[in-house]
Amino acid sequence: MTVTIVGAQLGDEGKGGVVDLYGDRVDVVARYQGGDNAGHTVVHGGEEYKLSLVPSGAVRGKIGVLGNGCVVNPATLFEEIDALRERGLEPDVRVAERAHVILPYHRVLDGIEEEAKSDSNQKVGTTGRGIGPTYEDKAGRRGIRVGDLLDPDVLRERLEYVVPQKRALAEDVFGVKTGEEFDIASLYEQYRRFGERLAEEGMPVNAGDFLTDAMADGRTVMVEGAQGTTIDIDHGNYPYVTSSNPTAGGAATGTGLSPGVIGDGEVIGIVKAYLTRVGSGPLPTELGGVAGDTPGYDEQGEGENEELAEYIREEGGEYGTVTGRPRRVGWLDVPMLRHATRVSGFTGLAINHIDVLAGLESVNVGHAYELDGETIETTPTTTERWADCEPVLREFDGWPETDWEAVANEGYDAIPANARAYLEYVSDELGVPIYAVGVGPGREQTVVVESPFE
Ligand code: GDP
Ligand code: IMO
Ligand code: MG
Repeated sequence: MTVTIVGAQLGDEGKGGVVDLYGDRVDVVARYQGGDNAGHTVVHGGEEYKLSLVPSGAVRGKIGVLGNGCVVNPATLFEEIDALRERGLEPDVRVAERAHVILPYHRVLDGIEEEAKSDSNQKVGTTGRGIGPTYEDKAGRRGIRVGDLLDPDVLRERLEYVVPQKRALAEDVFGVKTGEEFDIASLYEQYRRFGERLAEEGMPVNAGDFLTDAMADGRTVMVEGAQGTTIDIDHGNYPYVTSSNPTAGGAATGTGLSPGVIGDGEVIGIVKAYLTRVGSGPLPTELGGVAGDTPGYDEQGEGENEELAEYIREEGGEYGTVTGRPRRVGWLDVPMLRHATRVSGFTGLAINHIDVLAGLESVNVGHAYELDGETIETTPTTTERWADCEPVLREFDGWPETDWEAVANEGYDAIPANARAYLEYVSDELGVPIYAVGVGPGREQTVVVESPFE
């Protein structure tokens, strides 16, 4: 049986922590999409690990697989592996030969396109890691895959085809002078060497075969999503999205395990008890606003609830794991969660960060939206309509600051009653049971209600 971890909102819901939490019962952790745009945090034993590519099971010494649906920057992968080794971990990472490779020109083009869009206020606010341009090349059948790095002749042939196109795009379409990032000979040398190291370390695999064989041998596979549902390229608020499918369907296409295997297992939706967003795009329940990211900020300013947003941002340490940018903050958006639950078929929920909201007199949720005089309970399909939605708020009594470690030890009933009312409202609205409640960043700061393995 597999357990799939899916972000239910906009990323940074605490997926890494949940992978680590349940990771003791797991042998292999596989990522199925995204790349080093992800930043997954695991806090244990006084150490904090911020993982971008290495699957979060590494902290418990589990095998990690980067599935075919991932985009892999070998430079950052090796940097991360080396840094983890220096900290005493022994990451055992396998990489799908079918996974696509991020090259330096992808990063440059990511920046160029964001810059071009900023003139007309259409900037997405990407992480700048080259994610979009790499998936573009994958879909355009001009990408370079991990398997290609292992065969120098193929690598050279692919580079010779694609690089002149990329150079022309940068120079002739966008008018930007290009450098070493677009130089075939230097790219060839650098990426051939990456291929050699991948081979030396025994990392390339056929991910689908590897995972299927592991399961046939009785080993347990956990599947770790990156990003979140509302930034899914199909089910999110396009175009303010990432370029892959963080939703559960992606777990099948991005690993080579069949939809039946994924669907027979558990799919845990990871929910932050409020909302954060890094980058642009609408956010109906937003409190305050962040310059450069919140649409209309320049005209409207930070909004009336900036103090509250600031409070939550500071309490929750809501600054981007990858880019350090301040995250936009809002109340929990329940229409967004209803949509996420339908798309991914959550069998359980992990709701994190209830400790961050402690001490507030009251806590609101966006229960529904009002749009053109009608009340709707799920998200509109177009981003423009979504931006027109006014949240219909529901108020909950707040809960006090608490000794959360003690709560985690004692169990669910030790959670303050008002927080339980909040949690149970979410679970009832979605019709999905709560498996875990996060009351702090550490492995021990979690109330485990149920294990997907029992
Ligand atoms: P991910 O991308 O979904 O893995 O999440 P991130 O690691 O980017 O962001 C989540 C942040 O919140 C990290 O700093 C975590 O250590 C922290 N965190 C996770 N769960 C909780 C929780 O329940 N309470 C608090 N206070 N912090 C949490
Ligand atoms: P984890 O896995 C939060 C956002 C970016 C931007 C949009 C597109 O840590 O939850 P991209 O670089 O992917 O093309 O950027 O998606 N984004 C994330 N936001 N958490 C993430 O990952 C994200 N990965 C990308 O901020 O708005
Ligand atoms: Mg993150």
